[in-house]
Amino acid sequence: MTPLRSLVVRTSGPEETRACGLALGRSLPGHVTLSLEGPLGSGKTVLAGGVCEAVGVEGPITSPTFTLLNEYEGRSGRRVIHVDCFRLSGAAEFLDLGVDDRLTDDALLLVEWGDRVTEALPADTIRIRLEPGDEDERRIVILGPEGVDLAALEAGAE
Ligand SMILES: Nc1ncnc2c1ncn2[C@@H]1O[C@H](COP(=O)(O)OP(=O)(O)OP(=O)(O)O)[C@@H](O)[C@H]1O
Ligand SMILES: [Mg+2]
Repeated sequence: MTPLRSLVVRTSGPEETRACGLALGRSLPGHVTLSLEGPLGSGKTVLAGGVCEAVGVEGPITSPTFTLLNEYEGRSGRRVIHVDCFRLSGAAEFLDLGVDDRLTDDALLLVEWGDRVTEALPADTIRIRLEPGDEDERRIVILGPEGVDLAALEAGAE
């Protein structure tokens, strides 16, 4: 079957967005970069929390808005590097964070405001755009690179 490259998920509360992150984290083996895009408060960190849960990171996840980079290790031993680019001027500053040095073969790289540093992200980055709708509604557009099959996420999609 042809791999599924893009997917739209609609959520009507933070738990559902977190569940979307959980499903993503579970269905993506190996080293993966997720670019989390959308306005302030759209749910990027909520979704990141679900991804972290998938690899068994304990405790709450917060936006690394000021620390710029948080690093977690899940029960599975898989690492999560969580970056927030809101305060970065662009790709050069992202590269200065030294993310590459921290990545392991199966690390998950989560980049909030990844659309601000697109040039610095790997070509196989999965882009996730969170679009707020009425109140707690969110439309989540997931765009995978060639070679990634999003079929495992299809449940709950449009
Ligand atoms: N469907 C939904 N999905 C995700 N969050 C939702 C949803 N409905 C309401 N919310 C609320 O929206 C907020 C999302 O906050 P979150 O910190 O994840 O946003 P963010 O995109 O990371 O913001 P920032 O750009 O400031 O880092 C939370 O308070 C959450 O409870
Ligand atoms: Mg955030």
